[in-house]
Amino acid sequence: MASATRGHFITLEGIEGAGKTTQRSVVLETLRRADIAVTTTREPGGSPIAERMRALLLDRDNQGMAPDAELLLMFAARAEHLRSTILPALAEGRWVLCDRFTDATYAYQGGGRGVDHARIAVLETFVQGPLRPDLTLLFDLPASLGLERARGRSAPDRFETEALAFHERVRAAYLTTAEREPERVRRIDAARATEAGAADVRHIVADYVGKAG
Ligand SMILES: Nc1ncnc2c1ncn2[C@@H]1O[C@H](COP(=O)(O)OP(=O)(O)OP(=O)(O)O)[C@@H](O)[C@H]1O
Ligand SMILES: [Mg+2]
Repeated sequence: MASATRGHFITLEGIEGAGKTTQRSVVLETLRRADIAVTTTREPGGSPIAERMRALLLDRDNQGMAPDAELLLMFAARAEHLRSTILPALAEGRWVLCDRFTDATYAYQGGGRGVDHARIAVLETFVQGPLRPDLTLLFDLPASLGLERARGRSAPDRFETEALAFHERVRAAYLTTAEREPERVRRIDAARATEAGAADVRHIVADYVGKAG
């Protein structure tokens, strides 16, 4: 758990269309009710330069990007985002709510693209030092359902155009992380109606805030 002086770091994870962005407002509302000052942000991106790296990562014209280049670009964006947005906010005592973070790298570049877990772990420590999220909400649902929801929304990006099998590997990698770290990573069944997920989110976040006291 975070020290009393710095803010807490909460992340939202899950495959495309899982409902991360939809449920973000429920997390925010729960934190604000507890009078907690929150900075909301997202990855890849979250700062002006990192958003430019996001555009490179998501651009469908970059279909052939080498997996290692994709991995390094994710961490380059993360280094920029940490320095300009996340670390200053946490240092001020603000809580940070981030839509995707390094668990997504293990899931997409690790599970999806097949990059070794150990290679990602080296970069995680290089870029983040000891910083890890304090609480992660994993919105979990079958990949086919997530893609169906995401496709109804807007033009697909470079990851959304990947085959179903890719997204199934991403989901499996997320579930492995949740099994490894059950205290930090809380799985929410996102196949249900939005309100059922929201009730779980309120419960988990309110409980976390109570313990963070
Ligand atoms: N529980 C739900 N039941 C049905 N539809 C949902 C549910 N949750 C979200 N949706 C809808 O599914 C679509 C994807 O949701 P959302 O954008 O929140 O997903 P996301 O996890 O943020 O996706 P991405 O990873 O692509 O950003 C949206 O149109 C949203 O309204
Ligand atoms: Mg989203």
